[in-house]
Amino acid sequence: MPLNWISKVRVMNWDELYAACNSCRRCPLCETRTNVVVGTGNRSSKILFVGEGPGYNEDIQGLPFVGAAGQLLDKMLAAIDLTREDVYIANIVKCRPPGNRDPLPMEKEACIVYLRQQFKLIRPRIIVCLGRIAAQSIISADFRITKQRGIWYNKKGIDIIATYHPSALLRDETKQKKREAWEDFKQIRDKLKEVTNNEQ
Ligand code: URA
Repeated sequence: MPLNWISKVRVMNWDELYAACNSCRRCPLCETRTNVVVGTGNRSSKILFVGEGPGYNEDIQGLPFVGAAGQLLDKMLAAIDLTREDVYIANIVKCRPPGNRDPLPMEKEACIVYLRQQFKLIRPRIIVCLGRIAAQSIISADFRITKQRGIWYNKKGIDIIATYHPSALLRDETKQKKREAWEDFKQIRDKLKEVTNNEQ
């Protein structure tokens, strides 16, 4: 990515960031998108959830996690006493990959610059990676979701954990993943309590 463009993004405020995302043509996903899905929620939240990229419904509405996976995410948040207004939700890529394929490396590389600026503006204490794609971009390139979910990592003072993507839970016939995700969400609830108490 051109360095002068990255340094421009790194000093953007929210309005500038939204404008830059909405007019972005840094990767081919701009050709097929209906809307750019920048993110939603509480911009001063202590906790940020990161998914993979918009699907059909998100592309139409311009908001993250509004389809079936989003409804499940809402239920999981509710189970730990959180609503969308308490958290911020974003994705690794802000434009829908056609047919919901995995985003390509160059698409992720182009887009993550915006997400990093969102991290900087929000300054969350906790980041939750929803699924492998988010975990591989944020935690480590070789991240194995089945082996490494539920483990806390720390980068630059931010506690980071990965759990299953809600879409994987919707496909989970044995309910094993659902049980594991519930364990992860309980850890997330406890960590959020801990960071909130430490700041009081
Ligand atoms: N899946 C994602 O990863 N993100 C969304 O916004 C919707 C579905």
